[in-house]
Amino acid sequence: MDQPSAPHREHHHHLHLPDKETVRRDFIRTLFTSGFLVWIGAFIYPVYRYLKPREEEDTTNAVQSIIAGKTGDFASTRAKLVKFGSKPVLLLKNDQGEIVALGATCKHLGCTVQYVAAKNHIFCGCHGGVYDLTGKNISGPPPAPLDKYKVAIEGEDVIVSRA
Ligand code: FES
Repeated sequence: MDQPSAPHREHHHHLHLPDKETVRRDFIRTLFTSGFLVWIGAFIYPVYRYLKPREEEDTTNAVQSIIAGKTGDFASTRAKLVKFGSKPVLLLKNDQGEIVALGATCKHLGCTVQYVAAKNHIFCGCHGGVYDLTGKNISGPPPAPLDKYKVAIEGEDVIVSRA
């Protein structure tokens, strides 16, 4: 019943322009190939970035110490989150009344931890990691204690520096 209506492929007869046609086809092939490579790269690169070992931390130009606040800041609160260069640092008044400073970057996958007054511990909301006030990992997935920083009190100033 149906009339087979195969497209007539040979209706272009660029007999005088074979080179141009070839160039065009090559161009399209190149376009597809490079598009494909970009596409592949878009997938591979983040995976590569993720798997690649972390670069050694460059400490040469890094911040060595900061004035993180005033002792008076801890009159009504026990914890304060500050930035040490690009890193979050948690200042805490511990049970002995001393101000201590701990890296606030969770040792599991790097979320920022926080002090939970109701439980008097440090908590990571990402996967439920718990640290005590010395930074020791006491529960959940974190495999190591939080980084330690040095704290010095100069007059009213709370000075935090690399341990
Ligand atoms: S990142 Fe903190 S518990 Fe997973």
